[in-house]
Amino acid sequence: QRAMIAMALACQPRLLLADEPTTALDVTLRAQILDLLSELQRRNGMAVLLITHDLNLVRKFADRVAVMENGHIVEHGDVAGVFANPQHPYTRKLIDSKPVRDIDECPAPGGEPVMQAANMRVAYPIARPGFKGWFGKGEFVAVHAASFTVAPGQTLGVVGESGSGKSTLALAALGLMPHGGDLKVVGKSWGATSAAASHNRGIRRLVQVVFQDPFSSLSPRLTVEEIVGEGLLVHEPGLAVTRRRERVMQALNDVGLGEAQFPGLLSRYPHEFSGGQRQRLAIARALIVNPQLLVLDEPTSALDVTIQKQVLELLQRLQREKGLSYLLITHDVDVIRAMAHDVMVMKDGVIVESGPVGQVLDAPREAYTQRLVAAAA
Ligand SMILES: Nc1ncnc2c1ncn2[C@@H]1O[C@H](COP(=O)(O)OP(=O)(O)OP(=O)(O)O)[C@@H](O)[C@H]1O
Ligand SMILES: [Mg+2]
Repeated sequence: QRAMIAMALACQPRLLLADEPTTALDVTLRAQILDLLSELQRRNGMAVLLITHDLNLVRKFADRVAVMENGHIVEHGDVAGVFANPQHPYTRKLIDSKPVRDIDECPAPGGEPVMQAANMRVAYPIARPGFKGWFGKGEFVAVHAASFTVAPGQTLGVVGESGSGKSTLALAALGLMPHGGDLKVVGKSWGATSAAASHNRGIRRLVQVVFQDPFSSLSPRLTVEEIVGEGLLVHEPGLAVTRRRERVMQALNDVGLGEAQFPGLLSRYPHEFSGGQRQRLAIARALIVNPQLLVLDEPTSALDVTIQKQVLELLQRLQREKGLSYLLITHDVDVIRAMAHDVMVMKDGVIVESGPVGQVLDAPREAYTQRLVAAAA
């Protein structure tokens, strides 16, 4: 991105058009790019047209702002004025979209941890460069000695920049990648051999997953009934068809999708739903087998801020009602603040800091956490 900016600035333009210049970047890197832009702007007196869905960015960087909805500019003015006193309902909705903390702070103690890891290590096999490759494969350690606990009814947040090992940790937690060290799900370990298939199936029912991208995580060829009901075929194969359908309807109802809104809901296909609705489908699919723990890997990063807020509210309600535990992976500190009881901060495969959310985010000890929190403010 720096190289792109350098190219754009090489002919000393009067106007720089920056279309989501930092969305794909980590918060820490984002702050650096913005500093660079403001500095160049000051020095060269260049104007910037910054296009973004990130309100924090606008607040920090821009002098004036225009809000667009469905192809129309519904409001514009100086940043301070618009943020302090938004006129249009859509602007108000955008500004109100910061997720709100609404969770059970101390859920009733419910016995043993839902997940417990001690010195968990996860590595990818990689080809070694040069002649060393002749003598066998090397490995890349993506998670080093991770130790953590997920308590019943609580959320453990995982933050860290891109490539820090968050998704790898999630895959290992789900029993989808081999790991070293110790990992227990409701007191049981994932079996590594094929003989452990039925043992693993028992654990798998308890730990379900929701992935980031609702556009690729749902099969386009399956109907809503097939997608949401799939887990029942695996975990409760003896269930009668009518009973299975009831369970599917119940799960859809739990996530706020119903026939009233979508006639013929069960036989629809994923492409008929918006991003937020698809993420609801993915949550329904996870809930139908009555799990104790949901692994949520960036569940709202692909969604608009207003939709993100609705999905987070849904997750909060489900946790309160069902006593669910969440392992919530995100690079968004605001999401952690709204959702998590405890948080761990990852960098280069290492957990650099962990503890209760208030402690870690409000009084971070590590320089890296301090940077992360400062960049998100
Ligand atoms: N299949 C693979 N083979 C080798 N290395 C891999 C593989 N998958 C991931 N890695 C490496 O492991 C590290 C951790 O990747 P991971 O996907 O867990 O990061 P992440 O924290 O989820 O990042 P992001 O925020 O971008 O999703 C990265 O350095 C990545 O390059
Ligand atoms: Mg990831």
